[in-house]
Amino acid sequence: MAFPPAFLDELNRRTPIEELVGQYVSLTRRGGNLFGLCPFHGEKTASFSVAPDKGIYYCFGCHKGGGAINFIMEIEGLSYADAVRFLAKRAGLELPEDDRDNSQYKKKERLWALCKESARFFHEQLKSPGAREVWDYIHKRGLSPSTVKRFGLGFAPNGWNNLMDAMTAKGFTKSELLEAGLVLQHKEKGTFYDRFRNRLMFPIIDVRGNVIGFGGRVMDDSTPKYLNSPETLIFNKRRNLFALNVVKKSKSDCIILTEGYMDAIALHQYGFDCAVASLGTSLTQEHADLLSKYTNEVVLTYDGDQAGQNATQRAIPMLEKTGLRVKILRMQGAKDPDEFLKKFGADRFKLLLQGCENQAEYRLMSLQKQYDLNIDEQKVEFAKKAAELISTYSTAVEREIYGIKAAEMAKLTPEVMSLEIKKAFKRRMAIERKVQEKKELELSAARQPRSRDIRYDNLRSAMAEETLIRMLQRDPSLFARGEKLQQGYFSVPMFGKIFDIWRNCWRQDLPLQTGSLAEVLNASEMAHLSGLLQKADTPVVEEAFDDCVRIIAEEGREPEDLRAMQERLKRKKGYGGN
Ligand code: CTP
Ligand code: MN
Repeated sequence: MAFPPAFLDELNRRTPIEELVGQYVSLTRRGGNLFGLCPFHGEKTASFSVAPDKGIYYCFGCHKGGGAINFIMEIEGLSYADAVRFLAKRAGLELPEDDRDNSQYKKKERLWALCKESARFFHEQLKSPGAREVWDYIHKRGLSPSTVKRFGLGFAPNGWNNLMDAMTAKGFTKSELLEAGLVLQHKEKGTFYDRFRNRLMFPIIDVRGNVIGFGGRVMDDSTPKYLNSPETLIFNKRRNLFALNVVKKSKSDCIILTEGYMDAIALHQYGFDCAVASLGTSLTQEHADLLSKYTNEVVLTYDGDQAGQNATQRAIPMLEKTGLRVKILRMQGAKDPDEFLKKFGADRFKLLLQGCENQAEYRLMSLQKQYDLNIDEQKVEFAKKAAELISTYSTAVEREIYGIKAAEMAKLTPEVMSLEIKKAFKRRMAIERKVQEKKELELSAARQPRSRDIRYDNLRSAMAEETLIRMLQRDPSLFARGEKLQQGYFSVPMFGKIFDIWRNCWRQDLPLQTGSLAEVLNASEMAHLSGLLQKADTPVVEEAFDDCVRIIAEEGREPEDLRAMQERLKRKKGYGGN
């Protein structure tokens, strides 16, 4: 989808980057830039920068960066076109007429509105005379009225068309209800009927505050116990977590991940305002990425049964991959947090949380389970594997403590175990040193961009292109000195594109927008550009600029000139032969 440049220009003008980012990140000014904690990776020191004059953000930690549109794409999980629409709406800017592609976004907006109205309807139904049974159930589950309100719980009455009638009366069509997963269609008769009937309803709300789906629980032992909205245009179970909309405002330094709606809700009611639940699916990498935007530490509270343990094992690497710390909380005497809280109370749960095993100990215990330590061979094998595992722990104290633990498990002396760990540690250090050396070598030898999508094939030219772009951004009047350059001379395609677009802006006397480049550059390119522009400024020196122009022209023109020269030579020869 191509938006007109004038429209994008206006959009960027109406969207000061510091104000936009400031709605998500608290920023403090330091010189010309603003700094804050990066919303895209967990961190304790502020390496996330915003440059109001350049209209860009850049994180020196995770190297994400770009303009306003990129920021919204990243943080709201929107496509380029949807991010533009999102910002246009925010800025009160009319979308261009020919934004034909926006039917999808308009549809989403309709479905969000429909789900919100439905949540209201279900909530209102709690006041109806037919809601006696659901209130009995709510009391039985120990949910307080304020919990019911906070999570917007509701009641789907027993009948085939209660919701459908209420929503069609509000102007929604049956096909919209079908698309939102709120009604089903009879296969033969083609008639529609409510999906959720006689259930306690849990609205599922995304981090932007849109109602995107529902979970509904029966109030007796019938099945299925929980019925959930199907996947729809707006409801993606792999990418959303129940209660994250509430948790994102929590001051807690961890997020507790549970398996059930009821567990998350009970935790909130008992004062743990940082609990979320997955939506009846196992944890996905998308969930892990999402969590890492809001916290540094995740506490897993899956069931103690085999299925729960397997789920835990699967979740750990996904969470760790994003840089999150993982802890595993294990309960005894209760099958899930909801049951635990009711039986033992919040204080006991707090103790569990404080003393909760870190994944180091958990992994050691899972390792132990894989071996029969009464058999000598298996004991040796366990000791080796345990030593390898423990050697990865970063402090000597940890390695000592868990070494003793592992020795106890295998009934070996701590000295033997400690020796094994030291050997494993040395091996690891040797490997890591090599890896590090190789990395440093690569880094200094080729000043390649971080992103693997961008290659500098001609380093001499690429360095000149970098400097040229940075200088032009600071002083567009330099374009007058680079008239002889053409897009095709650039060895790095993204620099060529930027040069061309910016030069057109300069010729039309428009400001050089970094943000609107998001249309022609991909996410890695935008991040790379933002990183360059956020580097300490080099002074603009005309001679240095002329040097860059010369190098780019030399490097870029050479192949053509050679070819031309060859042609000429050939022709000459031809004439000579005649
Ligand atoms: N679930 C589901 N469909 C089912 C059963 C469970 O989608 N038929 C999902 C729900 O998201 C539920 C979670 O799995 O919240 C956990 O289910 P389960 O452990 O069976 O129930 P509890 O959370 O203990 O629910 P309750 O306490 O209400 O019995
Ligand atoms: Mn339960």
